[in-house]
Amino acid sequence: MSTSTLTRRADYPGLLTPQGEPWHYLDTAATAQKPQGVIEAMARALGPDYATVHRGVYARSAEMTLAYEAARGRVAGFLGGREEEVVFTRGATEAINLVAQSWGLANLKAGDRVLLSVLEHHSNIVPWQMLRERTGIEIDVCPLTEGGCIDLDAAGAMLTPAHRLVALAHVSNVLGSVLEVRRAADLAHSVGALLLVDGCQAAPRLAVDVAALDCDFYVFSAHKLYGPTGIGVLWARAEILDAMPPWQGGGSMIDRVTFERTTWAPPPQRFEAGTPAIAEAIPLHAAIDYVEAVGLDAIHAHETALVCQLRGGLSRINSVRLFGPEESAGIVSFALDGIHPHDLGTILDEGNVAIRVGHHCAQPLMDHLGVPATARASFGIYSDENDIAALLAGIERTQRIFG
Ligand SMILES: Cc1ncc(COP(=O)(O)O)c(C=O)c1O
Repeated sequence: MSTSTLTRRADYPGLLTPQGEPWHYLDTAATAQKPQGVIEAMARALGPDYATVHRGVYARSAEMTLAYEAARGRVAGFLGGREEEVVFTRGATEAINLVAQSWGLANLKAGDRVLLSVLEHHSNIVPWQMLRERTGIEIDVCPLTEGGCIDLDAAGAMLTPAHRLVALAHVSNVLGSVLEVRRAADLAHSVGALLLVDGCQAAPRLAVDVAALDCDFYVFSAHKLYGPTGIGVLWARAEILDAMPPWQGGGSMIDRVTFERTTWAPPPQRFEAGTPAIAEAIPLHAAIDYVEAVGLDAIHAHETALVCQLRGGLSRINSVRLFGPEESAGIVSFALDGIHPHDLGTILDEGNVAIRVGHHCAQPLMDHLGVPATARASFGIYSDENDIAALLAGIERTQRIFG
């Protein structure tokens, strides 16, 4: 399988250092670099096209409203859902908090249970702990298989009719392991629970079809999908969203306001209080166009080939500990004996190689792995063999420095 780049690196102004040298950016799981088309879409949205949405009677505002709602339609098409099922949020974190505070507060009570897994990002742990404080729900934690996947056999054995929600990552941001979402949905539904899927790392790497996956909530952040920061998506099944109360009050989310009583707008507006992220929604549309033009199957195959190449290279270096499964989706975590990941990250940076080091907002997973931190290389559309070569050379240099 070829690992040459899938796209022109020149499309990405962020892939150069200030001196104009190639920057080996291996931190796409944290946030993706932006293609020129997305940057231009944002500049147009903030510049000649700019106006508010949903309010103005003047033509520019009406056009902006159409563009904003077209972005919602584009997201719906991307996920295989319906337009009215797509709520724009600030990001995946806000989307999960929305579900916890709206659906969770309305539907869960003391003694109800939520099932998470060991590998969840803090964004899919802390909102449920905050809900536990307010409602008295219980949180259970599904273990991992030896290979670092969420152990769905164990999940099946743990689930009871007291479970009302199962909330799991589609792709682990540390291990790159991929969840069998359909099976998780079947397990959750078999006890009457709903399934929330944290798709932050999956949406940029795997084709997603919420109907085929049969999940109930799906969330992702635009900035990991080659789009802008400040916008993300909650997709929820229409009948669930329809029954959910608002979680923030303000303009745009109402039907009629009097001092005595306010009635709510239907979804998705009910969940979008205030002026929305207009100038972010439009470049998100451009980002989805870009990603789909390259093709998610091609992106997945490209990243899988790079993972295979990097894992092969790392396993030939002495004193490297590799985490996660062989068939990781675009993400490789590792540790070097006797060298702190932060030292490695600093030395790599001197050679224009950017990786992520630390706990990756997954401290329970670090505890499970028995390390305080790992080094993580993560790939994107624009990654290639040169990035891997630069990383491996930087690791060898670091090992020489540390003797
Ligand atoms: C698996 C996963 N879930 C949730 C998040 C949170 O995303 P955001 O910070 O964009 O809200 C991330 C970000 O790293 C992630 O990787």
